This record gives sequence, C-alpha cells and structure tokens, in this order.
Amino acid sequence: MRKKIVAGNWKMNMTPTQAVELVNTLKPLVANDEVDVVFCVPAIDIIPAMEAAKGTNINIGAENMYFEDSGAYTGEISPKMLADAGVKYVVIGHSERREYFAETDETVNKKVLKALEYGITPIICCGETLTQREQGITIDWIRQQIKIAFLNVTADQAKTTVIAYEPIWAIGTGKTATTEQAEEVCAAIRVCIGEIYDQATAEAIRIQYGGSVNAGNAAELFAQPDIDGGLVGGASLKPDFGKIVCYK
Ligand code: 13P
Repeated sequence: MRKKIVAGNWKMNMTPTQAVELVNTLKPLVANDEVDVVFCVPAIDIIPAMEAAKGTNINIGAENMYFEDSGAYTGEISPKMLADAGVKYVVIGHSERREYFAETDETVNKKVLKALEYGITPIICCGETLTQREQGITIDWIRQQIKIAFLNVTADQAKTTVIAYEPIWAIGTGKTATTEQAEEVCAAIRVCIGEIYDQATAEAIRIQYGGSVNAGNAAELFAQPDIDGGLVGGASLKPDFGKIVCYK
C-alpha cells in the first residue's frame, strides 16, 4: 500500500511573516498521520516555515533548486543548501518553471539526479497543454517527459520519488481534470515506469494529481487506484487545505 502524499505548492505567495501565520493556522487542520503532508514554499520562507512547523507532521519543501552544488549562479539555490536546512522535498519542473524560466526535460533530469544525490525527494512535474490534449497526444507527451526525467535514475532511487501529473489547462483555472482523465494519465505514467524499470518500482512510486484540486473534489480524485495524493496550488493557502489532507 502506497501512503498518500498531499503537497501544497505556495508558488510566489506568502511573505516570511505570512508563512509563519499560515503554518500556525494549518497546523491543527492537517494533523493526519495517514498522509504525508508537505508545504512547498518560496525559498525565503523555508527557514521560518520550518521553525513554525517543528514538532508537527508538516514537512517543508522547496519549489525549485539548481542542479549544481555551489558556484557562480547568481540568484539560484542549491540542493546542498536545501539539504543543510533539512529540506526533504523539492518540486522539480513545474509547468510554470518550464513556461517562464525555460526549464526543459533535460534540466529536469539534471535536477532530479542532483536532488536524489542529496537525499531530497523530487516531486517531478509533468503535464500537457490543452492543445496537446486536443491533438490526442497527451499520453505520448507525458511518456516522453517521464522517460527523460528518469534518465540515469536507478530503480531504487525511482521508488523514492514522487511524480505530479498536472495538466496545464487545469492549473489555476478552476477546471479540474475529470476523475477519469486524471486516473487515465496517472495509470499510464505507472505503466511507463514499469517499462523503464520493473513492476515493483511501478507499484512503489507515488503519483499525484494536480490542477484545481479543492476540498470538494479531493476525495474522489485520491480514491482512484493510481492517484496517490495531490499537488495543490491555490487551495493550499487556505484552511480548506486541511480538508484536502483529511479527505476521508
Ligand atoms: P492550482 O491548484 O491552483 O490549480 O495549482 C496547481 C499547481 O500548479 C500545483 O503545483
């Protein structure tokens, strides 16, 4: 049985002061040991959020990192820094990073390998545009993203990773993929992992759905056989996130 994992992606929201307030508000609402709970927060919020989350079931994660240990990369944050701060999860290759910051499947792969080297669990994002869905190439596209993201990743490493399927047309639009659409792609991702590695790896890896997840649709989405939780944007900034974590 895979343990569900529900992660909030705060994106570029919350000052350090607000971050502490939000963690304090959500603390009692997300106290559910049956689910791994992660708040992926802006880099500047990591330390204060961690302090505020001490002694709770909340894991603080990052939203991005660079694929080098250190060096002349002004403005970047390294996995070495994240690991030293105690960060256990990092979102890699979110569609917004791909769209606005020119991230590619190749940089995603480099970041995945680096995060794993530092013992940080990558939450690896994939997803199709509305055009791609209409062209009928969703599964082909996702399979390509997955195959490149996992290049040179061993089966043992792959088992520890998390994949987030986030159809781009469902992000921040209020347009959730139907349960069938979400399950179809998450199942296809699991098949793809099985092809790259083996059945045991496919069974172990956790696959989240993301895109307009809210308190009203989480239970049905998370009940699907291949959906092991969610990556939540907007609703992770509200008390409603507690209802998503405690979806049962
Ligand atoms: P929304 O939940 O706001 O649609 O965002 C989804 C997302 O991009 C999470 O990474």
